[in-house]
Amino acid sequence: MQVVSRPCGPLRGTVRPVGDKSLTHRGLIVASLARGTSAITGANPGEDCSGTAAALSKLGARVRPIPDGWEIEGAPGGLRDPEEVLDLGNSGTAIRLLAGLVAGQSRYAVLTGDASLRRRPMRRIAEPLERMGARVLLRDEDYPPIAVRGGDVRPVRYRLPVASAQVKSCCLLAALGLRDGEIVLEEPGPSRDHSERLLGWLGAAIEWGHGRIVLRAPIPTFSGFAWAIPADISAACFYLVAATLVPGSDVIVKNVLLNPTRTGSCDALRAMGADLEIREDDASGPEPVGTIRVRSAHLHGIAIGGDLLTRALDEAPILAVAAAAAEGVTEILGAAELRVKESDRIESSAALARALGAEVETGPDRISIRGRGFLGGCAVRSRGDHRIAMSALVAGCAARGPVTVDDASAIATSDPEFLASLARLGADLS
Ligand code: S3P
Repeated sequence: MQVVSRPCGPLRGTVRPVGDKSLTHRGLIVASLARGTSAITGANPGEDCSGTAAALSKLGARVRPIPDGWEIEGAPGGLRDPEEVLDLGNSGTAIRLLAGLVAGQSRYAVLTGDASLRRRPMRRIAEPLERMGARVLLRDEDYPPIAVRGGDVRPVRYRLPVASAQVKSCCLLAALGLRDGEIVLEEPGPSRDHSERLLGWLGAAIEWGHGRIVLRAPIPTFSGFAWAIPADISAACFYLVAATLVPGSDVIVKNVLLNPTRTGSCDALRAMGADLEIREDDASGPEPVGTIRVRSAHLHGIAIGGDLLTRALDEAPILAVAAAAAEGVTEILGAAELRVKESDRIESSAALARALGAEVETGPDRISIRGRGFLGGCAVRSRGDHRIAMSALVAGCAARGPVTVDDASAIATSDPEFLASLARLGADLS
């Protein structure tokens, strides 16, 4: 599916991006263990989360689509071994979190995905799951398909080798099978804390902070819950950059997740000179939610590394577009994890910024982008990566010529509404 984005006039209006993908996966999975019916509304409508819902139904939860999300009847203590292989498509979050669920519920399952997912590292979850009592088999010692057989869950203290919310959440979901004692996880850096918040909101004895998470047995049986998922800040970031780069733009992004472990892209954009007005509207659920108003602005280069990068990791491709449009050098540092995302995002983000006219260098864990203060039209290969495709189409709104993406079909994994929403704000897409 080729899509062309042509230079357009000011972007104006209000947008409510799709529901948060990370929250939707977690809401669905935890609901499968709750007694009674849960309703996950405002859910992310993309293929990744639908894959999680389908896998849960193969594991024995009753999952029903409703307008805007899913209703789930959980099977606390009563999930079953799926007869089929669980195919999680493109989703690293789905395969890693579901592996944790299977391990903690003493179930057996084989999990796999598309060609991109089958190249992503899984040793990082096999190791802690085995320490917790599961058996895990990996292709070539690291890759899917993976086979997980859960056993009695043992209390462990485990130091994560990378700051990864997927690994941490895999361990926490496995730990929901703990009968005695506690599991203690130590993280080398802060990663998104959605699982901790959700489990705490539902009544689990969990504490976290300063790089340490402790979950204690007994784990209560959760009651069915209703959760209205806020909009995805990672999806919102495309509109933030589009409105920043197209002169005269003024856009309001509504109902957006403002969890500080996720708002690194807003901090980075502000440090680059972006004009963002951020207001928290609601802190009553497990996650803070608010409104962002963005007006166009000139950007300059900055360094993005350390915790700031971890808090903006999924936004690296769109930040690379902002960097290419900025004056001066932007450095994305300590970013080795980008190499094992849906594509090698060091190379794919670098190639995108280069195609747009920036001078770009890469290293094993860094990208250096010298922007020219404007973007040139170009042709971009999405490499099957939804965020590369969306970033390129945003660039086209503000470039001096059209930007053509060879295949934008991967956008459906996270945001089937993206093209329509961007067009509604004034983008010229065909
Ligand atoms: C996610 C965690 C991040 C992120 C991914 C979603 C999650 O991965 O890149 O898109 O929902 O836990 P890592 O924490 O493994 O870096």
